[in-house]
Amino acid sequence: MNIGWVVTICLTAFFLLLAADRAGELRRDRYVWTPPAPPAAAPPPAVPPPHSDTVEDLPDGKGRDTTFYACAACHGVAIIKAQGMSRELWEASFDLMIERHRMPPTKPEERAEILDYLAEQFPPRRRSRGGDNPFLR
Ligand code: HEC
Repeated sequence: MNIGWVVTICLTAFFLLLAADRAGELRRDRYVWTPPAPPAAAPPPAVPPPHSDTVEDLPDGKGRDTTFYACAACHGVAIIKAQGMSRELWEASFDLMIERHRMPPTKPEERAEILDYLAEQFPPRRRSRGGDNPFLR
């Protein structure tokens, strides 16, 4: 093989490569540099939606006011009323509010009053899918 062939093959390969280079990376003048995208912003923290609930939105009972003013500072009462739990689980929820959501700790007597209220008003619900369906009693 003489040098002529080698040159021809190399040149052909070069032009074929150039033709196949659709992104234009071999032709730097035509390669448009785009700045890297800025890092994605951190997801916003879980912020409960604002609410306009009042004390009356909680069922009447001993400790209602204390519970409302301690718990509705950050979120509406619907998120509370949607739960039905034992006192232990309410206690765990209470601690979660303090540890994870930075709720200011309450006085021990207020804590007991709130937990009594929650456990009494929102006890565990029956497991039947019918809920309060009288036909399923
Ligand atoms: C300092 C703010 C703050 C206070 C005060 C607060 N919570 Fe929460 N709570 C939150 C946040 C934040 C969430 C999460 C909401 C979300 O994910 O949309 C939450 C969620 C909940 C949930 C939903 C279940 C869950 O685990 O996500 C329940 C039930 C609840 N809170 C009960 C209470 C009760 C009961 C009190 C009063 C003793 C209370 N919260 C007081 C901030 C608070």
